[in-house]
Amino acid sequence: MKIVVLNGSPKGDINVTMQYVAYIRKKFPGHEYEILNVAQEIKKIEKDTAVWNKMTASVRSADLVFWAFPLYFLLVCAQYKRFIELIAERGAQDAFCGKYAASLSTSIHFFDQIAHAYIHAICDDLDMKYLGFYSAEMRDLLVEEERKRLEKFASLVLSAVEEKIPVQRETSPLVRSTFAYITGKDQKTVQAGTKKVVILTDDNGNSPNLTAMTSRIRTGFSGPVEMINLHELDIRGGCLGCCQCGYDNTCIYTDGYVDFFKNKLVPADIIIIAGSVHDRYLSSAWKQFFDRSFFKGHTPGLEGKQIGFVIAGPLGQIPSLREALAAWVDNGNCHAQFVTDEVQESGDLDALLDSMATRLVRAAEAEYIPPHTFYAVGGHKIFRDNICAGLRFVFQADYRYYCEHGLFDFPQADLKTRLLNAVFVPLTRIPGFRKKMFADMKHHMIKPFKPVLGDT
Ligand SMILES: Cc1cc2nc3c(=O)[nH]c(=O)nc-3n(C[C@H](O)[C@H](O)[C@H](O)COP(=O)(O)O)c2cc1C
Repeated sequence: MKIVVLNGSPKGDINVTMQYVAYIRKKFPGHEYEILNVAQEIKKIEKDTAVWNKMTASVRSADLVFWAFPLYFLLVCAQYKRFIELIAERGAQDAFCGKYAASLSTSIHFFDQIAHAYIHAICDDLDMKYLGFYSAEMRDLLVEEERKRLEKFASLVLSAVEEKIPVQRETSPLVRSTFAYITGKDQKTVQAGTKKVVILTDDNGNSPNLTAMTSRIRTGFSGPVEMINLHELDIRGGCLGCCQCGYDNTCIYTDGYVDFFKNKLVPADIIIIAGSVHDRYLSSAWKQFFDRSFFKGHTPGLEGKQIGFVIAGPLGQIPSLREALAAWVDNGNCHAQFVTDEVQESGDLDALLDSMATRLVRAAEAEYIPPHTFYAVGGHKIFRDNICAGLRFVFQADYRYYCEHGLFDFPQADLKTRLLNAVFVPLTRIPGFRKKMFADMKHHMIKPFKPVLGDT
């Protein structure tokens, strides 16, 4: 069997993910493996059609296409995303169509499910036969049990290909709307006052709805608004995964990204993120924007901002994209609002965008950030544990930040809770005490709120 591995690590051959592929190879040596470094070589692939043609020819000759990648900002890295975009842009879908596929990622399990949902949907859109995913914690291969688990996964995938099992498509094809947005003449505007508004867009002229939506939201604020196009910034490339920033938040790139981030975004109160749906995410330019913010490590770089997502395209049909954006906002300690062009009439979109401008200003004035949901509550615990232990050596800047901001909030450190448990857990072994405790449970649970509510 010929297995073509699409390596999604910008580090090329020397990376964690390929160790997992090497392990599969070691356990199943009777197959032909070809590894294509599509993320690392993306610039060459974009420029040199011979390189592209060679790669697509390899895919064409494969029995199994294995998407193997590290998680980058809740998805694959921008370079891998760009490779996926090129498949459609260059009409190479036929090379993938009908092939069996599976995916493998390494990560710290921070939104790994979103990345696999994305690759699964991409495979469905390419008419591939997707057999499933394997999401490894980056150090799993060091554990005997996990090695056995990986071997079982590979064995099941390989036998499925050999047996040519039937596979059902799981995601529905995207239905693209033909709605053309024409902005109306009347507009309710809002005075942003002292609040600084920045619109970030990746508009390249290919989405008239995005252009019109961005223009409408811009004029929705009566004060000054800064509009920045990602394509006009000096960003030389995607994150390389070198992690040098881990030491003191200094990015290895010396292009304009960090200055732009610090001087334009950090001082803003309201940031509009305007983009259109490309395959099952935003564009790779947007992905590059997110990936490069990794110079801030695992600390919130844009904390306290109001974020307005202005999106052209079928966001409502891509729950994993909506989830990725909402989770990014929640983990960043921001507040998000969304408007898309999934409407019936232009007047509806005018009203939604005008209202969004007003609601963003109101929320900024109130300094409203919603309570965290599972995304950030769970995310915090993953980061906290890793930065305290396994990743501390590399992410020393994060460690300092977590110490300074009291983020190592392990429950074991709470002496009061430990004391209460030490006393009450043994007491519950006494049947009479236990009976009374559970009978009064409702009252025990609300007792701490009494001082807050008084006699109401
Ligand atoms: C820019 C960047 C973003 C990352 N984002 C995530 C993430 O969203 N979720 C996660 O679990 N791990 C994330 N990681 C961790 C990597 O996925 C993990 O270290 C992976 O094993 C690296 O694999 P590689 O050596 O094959 O590139 C990120 C790492 C980098 C450098």
